Amino acid sequence: MRIAMIGTGYVGLVSGACFADFGHDVTCVDKDAGKIDAINRGVMPIWEPGLEALVKANADRGRLAFTTDIKDGVKDAEAVFIAVGTPARRGDGHADLSFVFAAVRELAKALQGPAVIVTKSTVPVGTGDEIARILAEEGAPEGTSVASNPEFLREGAAIADFKHPDRIVVGTDDDHAREVLREIYRPLFLNKAPILFTGRRTAELTKYAANAFLAVKISFINEIADLCEAVGADVQEVARGIGLDNRIGPKFLHPGPGYGGSCFPKDTLALLQTANEAGVPQRIVNTVVKVNDDRKASMAGRVTSALGGSVKGKRIGVLGLAFKPNTDDMRDAASIPLIQSLTEDGADVIAFDPAAMDNAKGMIDGLACANDAYAVANGADALVIVTEWDEFRALDLDKLAATMRGKALIDLRNVYDPEEAEKAGLDYRGIGRGRARPAA
Ligand code: UDX
Repeated sequence: MRIAMIGTGYVGLVSGACFADFGHDVTCVDKDAGKIDAINRGVMPIWEPGLEALVKANADRGRLAFTTDIKDGVKDAEAVFIAVGTPARRGDGHADLSFVFAAVRELAKALQGPAVIVTKSTVPVGTGDEIARILAEEGAPEGTSVASNPEFLREGAAIADFKHPDRIVVGTDDDHAREVLREIYRPLFLNKAPILFTGRRTAELTKYAANAFLAVKISFINEIADLCEAVGADVQEVARGIGLDNRIGPKFLHPGPGYGGSCFPKDTLALLQTANEAGVPQRIVNTVVKVNDDRKASMAGRVTSALGGSVKGKRIGVLGLAFKPNTDDMRDAASIPLIQSLTEDGADVIAFDPAAMDNAKGMIDGLACANDAYAVANGADALVIVTEWDEFRALDLDKLAATMRGKALIDLRNVYDPEEAEKAGLDYRGIGRGRARPAA
């Protein structure tokens, strides 16, 4: 299959490289010449495990090319995927579709024959209809059709997620489009991935409903964690106890400092907009958005209370800045409000992250960083684990405790066993581990 991919952001680059790896002939198109040049030199615009090698291997075999020229890129393509950004619009939180529509207009003019236009970007319900309207208006070739094929990959595990999806969702009423997409995804059927054919609006809504539901799950366990602390229960065991029920499932029940990233915060807001416009407000998701915002804002308070009520003049080490491990992405990361608030209250904050420090410096004014976890702990009154990178999971706690000035270990990801940490002489505070707290 000849495939064109418009947009080389997270989804576009990963999907393009994976389609090429299936044996398809893929050209990725992006307006940003600097980005295309860099990719052609083997420098990836994003930090994603395995991506650089996958791009190189497929480019070397002549199955994957990159260009800024859309006309060239879509030449002879049977399917053109749109994977440009849909950031939250300032003010109303609605998805900003200007990049999508601009790409569609250019595409309509660039196409020399009919193609299946597939949206991979997360777009509000009804966007496919608007794309079809624009294509017709701009005189796209007769027989061009529009399908929705939302992507569910997670950053940091993007290639594995793409190649082993739980399901593939394809929304279209067009028989030819269905056949083209079935052919494109055929290699995944060997991995037993089910493909779901639905209407276009259904596929569009499925993506938002999935992300909103996961956000609900996380916020639910975060609130249960707070309750565990108050009543002397352990949320890790509660999560396991409920997660073993097949109807609930064990995933996305890890309590933490609140969800962040490029999808959940943006997509929940966009879903609320769509729902309000449709006159069917989503009260659960609405509450979850508020609960998550409050949660992030409350994390600094945990540090303050571990330090006896004030952080003024205290040195606080932060382990992990990215919104989750295996990424350098800082978008809506819980570390941002935490560090800003501690700094405003007079703390001297020093941080380390294996990948996100450069990005973090651009988002947190005056951020001081160290070279590793032990350097962060050196002389610190408190150490806060914000992102559960693997390299923070097996730190030598005795060594940490020996170099720290104070003893507070605030583990916002429940990486450590409370007893083990206490044995090292640390004052351990996890999330929702009521049992581990000393009786008042
Ligand atoms: C998410 C969806 O998982 C993916 O299907 C969709 O396509 C894009 O959005 P991503 O944002 O990359 O992917 O990360 P994810 O692993 O889902 O984590 C999102 C946030 O939730 C992170 O801040 C993470 O720390 C937090 N989280 C996740 C929890 O706090 N607890 C959990 O149990 C799971």
